[in-house]
Amino acid sequence: MVSSPSSYLLIIVLLLLVLLTTSASIEENFIQCLSSYFSSNPKQFSTIIITRKNESFMSTLNSTAQNLRYLTPSMPKPEFIFTPLNESHVQAAVICSKKLDVHMRIRSGGHDYEGVSYVSEIETPFIIIDLAKLRTINVNITDNSAWVQAGATIGEVYYRISEKSAVHGFPGGICTSIGVGGHIAGGGFGAMVRKYGLAADNVLDAKLVDANGRLLDREAMGEIPFWAIRGGGSGNFGIILWWKIKLVPVPETVTVFTVTKTVEQGAEDIFLAWKDVASIDNDLFIRVIFQPVSAANKTGRTVSTSYNALFLGDASRLLKIMQHDFPKLGLTEKDCLKMSWIKSVLYLAGYPNDTNPDVLLQGKPIFKNYFKGKSDFFPFSTPPIQELFARLVEEDNPLIIWNPWAGGITYFPNSVTPFPYGFENLYLVEYLTLWHNASEDGSKHLDWIRKIYKYMTPYTNTQNLGRIAYVNYRDFDLGVNKKNAANFTEAAAWGLSYYQENFKKLVKIKNKMDPENVFRHEQSIPPDLSIMA
Ligand SMILES: Cc1cc2nc3c(=O)[nH]c(=O)nc-3n(C[C@H](O)[C@H](O)[C@H](O)COP(=O)(O)OP(=O)(O)OC[C@H]3O[C@@H](n4cnc5c(N)ncnc54)[C@H](O)[C@@H]3O)c2cc1C
Ligand SMILES: *[C@@H]1O[C@H](CO)[C@@H](O)[C@H](O)[C@H]1NC(C)=O
Ligand SMILES: *[C@@H]1O[C@H](CO)[C@@H](O)[C@H](O)[C@H]1NC(C)=O
Ligand SMILES: *[C@@H]1O[C@H](CO)[C@@H](O)[C@H](O)[C@H]1NC(C)=O
Ligand SMILES: *[C@@H]1O[C@H](CO)[C@@H](O)[C@H](O)[C@H]1NC(C)=O
Ligand SMILES: *[C@@H]1O[C@H](CO)[C@@H](O)[C@H](O)[C@H]1NC(C)=O
Ligand SMILES: *[C@@H]1O[C@H](CO)[C@@H](O)[C@H](O)[C@H]1NC(C)=O
Ligand SMILES: *[C@@H]1O[C@H](CO)[C@@H](O)[C@H](O)[C@H]1NC(C)=O
Ligand SMILES: *[C@@H]1O[C@H](CO)[C@@H](O)[C@H](O)[C@H]1NC(C)=O
Repeated sequence: MVSSPSSYLLIIVLLLLVLLTTSASIEENFIQCLSSYFSSNPKQFSTIIITRKNESFMSTLNSTAQNLRYLTPSMPKPEFIFTPLNESHVQAAVICSKKLDVHMRIRSGGHDYEGVSYVSEIETPFIIIDLAKLRTINVNITDNSAWVQAGATIGEVYYRISEKSAVHGFPGGICTSIGVGGHIAGGGFGAMVRKYGLAADNVLDAKLVDANGRLLDREAMGEIPFWAIRGGGSGNFGIILWWKIKLVPVPETVTVFTVTKTVEQGAEDIFLAWKDVASIDNDLFIRVIFQPVSAANKTGRTVSTSYNALFLGDASRLLKIMQHDFPKLGLTEKDCLKMSWIKSVLYLAGYPNDTNPDVLLQGKPIFKNYFKGKSDFFPFSTPPIQELFARLVEEDNPLIIWNPWAGGITYFPNSVTPFPYGFENLYLVEYLTLWHNASEDGSKHLDWIRKIYKYMTPYTNTQNLGRIAYVNYRDFDLGVNKKNAANFTEAAAWGLSYYQENFKKLVKIKNKMDPENVFRHEQSIPPDLSIMA
């Protein structure tokens, strides 16, 4: 019982203390902590901490944010954005946010489908550690490798490789503005996936800041964590600062083509023939893009199917393969464009054909929009194409992209990376819907994509561990982390979709590396097996 005057005084003093400490803002406390870590003048950090009061706050926040859905005024905003200039800044940031118990989001290229790197919908206040200024790339042709910093885009990596050699490349993503930090952590695939596997399959070493602020390379972290960070999803185990990647050989001249067929030109038959092509020559990658277009008679819409390809060889060998295995497409010599590998990178990314490759050094996307994506891995069976076409013409700007995945020597056993490879998974399919009107709430588009996803259920790969999805095409519809989940399905259904049988192993590694769950987000791997009852 509190009764004596001295107790009241004590309470008042305590209250004042609480008021005083809370009145210092999070950024002030953070700067204070950084300054004591470096024993330096707090002023030096004022240029690399951008608060809501700074004029450049919105432009910094939206600089690399790729999904406009997550930039609307109603989305939670960070207290501040910290843009480290060196490795120790990142280490100090981890130590200080832990000490101050402030939630961190990590951003490299900002291409997360659900804005996880710049919006927290589960916890406020939060801050962003933005690695945009850490984008050094050191290519070493002598030993076929490169050290690349997390904030670099994959396009910058491709450019720096091509600057040193016309016969080296790297099997990463097709979109050139994705950041290597998030991309490789989630697997990363592109037009050479059939020949060389994922970006994560071609990682030799890494440097990561762990939950205690230590900087660890492969040797220091050990082989089990090193397995987990190559495809086990991002924002789970630490902050990746560097990847050491293995370069792969590419021919001096490659061949690309895009052949488009509408429904009226026999799109369905050709598509059915294409599905067998997924297992022909590993030098050949042909993805198929479905999208609605206006009909030739101008009074309706139809669907176009574009066969967009990279061939690691010359046109005459390509034509022979196509005539033998996929004559239905009717590829001709005229369709085949010969170019250097770096030019093919620009071609597949959608740049106009006369673009100088140095555009990649800008690290900028070609477009930004509001979007929602979902993914599936398909077995050999084929869904009713007519029905998909019918659904596509009903939506404003949808896309369905079919990526061939299987390839004889491409397969790596599950133990090589946490990525759920499987022989049954013949194509990686992506469903997308885009819009540009800021006044729309998007619900119509979300409805459309959820319906098509549901419609596809019977045709997809529903193995005993559930329908598989690609972690780099993050989808909150698969579930988000919840405290006190009722059961396993509610707690972590998304984990099985992304990692299948590897999920439980990743939970154990998370428990060892980050038991306090310093690195957390809506779909981060939980450190606790007990929620998986
Ligand atoms: C337009 C577009 C095209 C795409 N094309 C392809 C493609 O061709 N192939 C493909 O495989 N994927 C593709 N993707 C998906 C892409 O691989 C993922 O979105 C990837 O996560 C992007 O990485 P990022 O660094 O740009 O993203 P960010 O948004 O910065 O980060 C993504 C996630 O990683 C975490 N993270 C970021 N940096 C680090 C770090 N340094 N250490 C630890 N965690 C980190 C973030 O917190 C977040 O959870 C595409 C995405 C978009 C939007
Ligand atoms: C943000 O504003 C503060 C206070 O006005 C200023 O000291 C600081 O230099 C600004 N930072 C940036 C990055 O503009
Ligand atoms: C991004 O920020 C800049 C500068 O504040 C602003 O002009 C632009 O409209 C912003 N874009 C979005 C999508 O918010
Ligand atoms: C990073 O910069 C700080 C100054 O802000 C400096 O004290 C520190 O030594 C630097 N660390 C490295 C690894 O360069
Ligand atoms: C490149 O790799 C070779 C062989 O491992 C090594 O001798 C050389 O020092 C490296 N060059 C650079 C610049 O790191
Ligand atoms: C125009 O073409 C579309 C797509 O092929 C078709 O659905 C529609 O019936 C056609 N309209 C007319 C008037 O021919
Ligand atoms: C580049 O595009 C233009 C216009 O579409 C076309 O005329 C030209 O042939 C193309 N060049 C190459 C090398 O494909
Ligand atoms: C944008 O969406 C709003 C709300 O749905 C609508 O009223 C408006 O007409 C749309 N604008 C355009 C250009 O389509
Ligand atoms: C898990 O819990 C949710 C919410 O209570 C419930 O809807 C669902 O049916 C449960 N699933 C299983 C497999 O028990």
